[in-house]
Amino acid sequence: MEMNDRFLRACRREPVDVTPVWFMRQAGRYMAEYRLIREKYSLIEICRHPEIAAEVTLQPVRALGVDAAILFADILLPVIPLGLGLEFAKGEGPVIASPVHTLEDVRRMKPFNAEADLGYVMEAIRLLRGTLGGVPLIGFCGAPFTVASYVIEGGSSREFLKTKTMMYSAPEVFHALMDKLSTVLTDYIVAQIHAGAQAIQLFDSWVGTLSPHDYENFVLPYSQRILEAVKKENVPAIHFGTNTTTLLPLMKLAGGDVIGLDWRIPLDQGWSLLGNDVAVQGNLDPAILFAPLPEIKQRVTDVLRRADGRPGHIFNLGHGILQHTPVENVRAVVDIVHEYSVLPKGEGLGVRGSA
Ligand code: CP3
Repeated sequence: MEMNDRFLRACRREPVDVTPVWFMRQAGRYMAEYRLIREKYSLIEICRHPEIAAEVTLQPVRALGVDAAILFADILLPVIPLGLGLEFAKGEGPVIASPVHTLEDVRRMKPFNAEADLGYVMEAIRLLRGTLGGVPLIGFCGAPFTVASYVIEGGSSREFLKTKTMMYSAPEVFHALMDKLSTVLTDYIVAQIHAGAQAIQLFDSWVGTLSPHDYENFVLPYSQRILEAVKKENVPAIHFGTNTTTLLPLMKLAGGDVIGLDWRIPLDQGWSLLGNDVAVQGNLDPAILFAPLPEIKQRVTDVLRRADGRPGHIFNLGHGILQHTPVENVRAVVDIVHEYSVLPKGEGLGVRGSA
């Protein structure tokens, strides 16, 4: 297969033939071929079988024509070897059997070795590098804050009240947990790179619940540690969060070659808050994929117009694909991005600032 390097080039803010596009959660229940595999295996079983995880990773690459593959895994896998217990309860999302609340709980977390404890993930990466041909493979991990929120809350949360209560009432416990998770996640992401991941994404999905002040004190130093370790490996890093409009400059400071933007901020505004010395990824509202095609086309071209042909834009949604999304609409987005981003700056969709 021919090398498709437009995604990796865009990560480095190099010129590209057309805008690269991939989707967070591009593998999953909205695809019939994924549901077929899920009839036989649980989510964790899929992850634990490298050949099945590799197959699921390839499904959207085949079906959609995206410019990057993302390893099929979950940000919560590391909590299993840490001894906290993980289950995906039907309709409830993740459930952690032994949440962390005290310093004792932090100290009880088991030592972690990525190759020994999550070798099945590295094996899936090695298999994929052998079969993907020219399509680049993205590895990923959760950012310390987002993983800590699950570990403290015991599952998904809306208010993050247990997490914030720990931050404000027992900061030494919170910092000890963040320190431990940063060490674990650095080891994990570097192992993925050594296994063959060609870019990585740090998912800080829920960090937008914090004020800039709390982000700076409680989160930034830990995400920075992971992103600095990735930088040493010479592999591009995407730093992703949602609801981050007021956090963007601090997220940039924490690191990443590419910063994720969600739909709550227009892409051009988000990019100017960040500055031109960093690439951006985003930022279509995943719900737009439920709209009729003409509306989808207008919204996709609006994002491209706001990017205005500047090097360093990776097209994506502002968050993951939703469960009942029509596959044909996802495929249409790939085609629209590739078709409407070919014209050079100023000649295609209109110059900067035009509606
Ligand atoms: O993007 C991909 O295609 C790669 C696979 C991937 C999964 N989870 C598989 C998965 C990735 C990148 C993730 C990341 C992840 N996991 C995040 C960060 C991204 C985000 O959405 O903000 C988070 C917060 C998690 C934790 C998690 N995993 C939750 C909250 C849930 C339950 C919610 C749901 O949709 O049911 C999961 C389950 C999960 N992880 C599914 C998939 C495909 C659901 C489908 C299934 O059960 O088969």
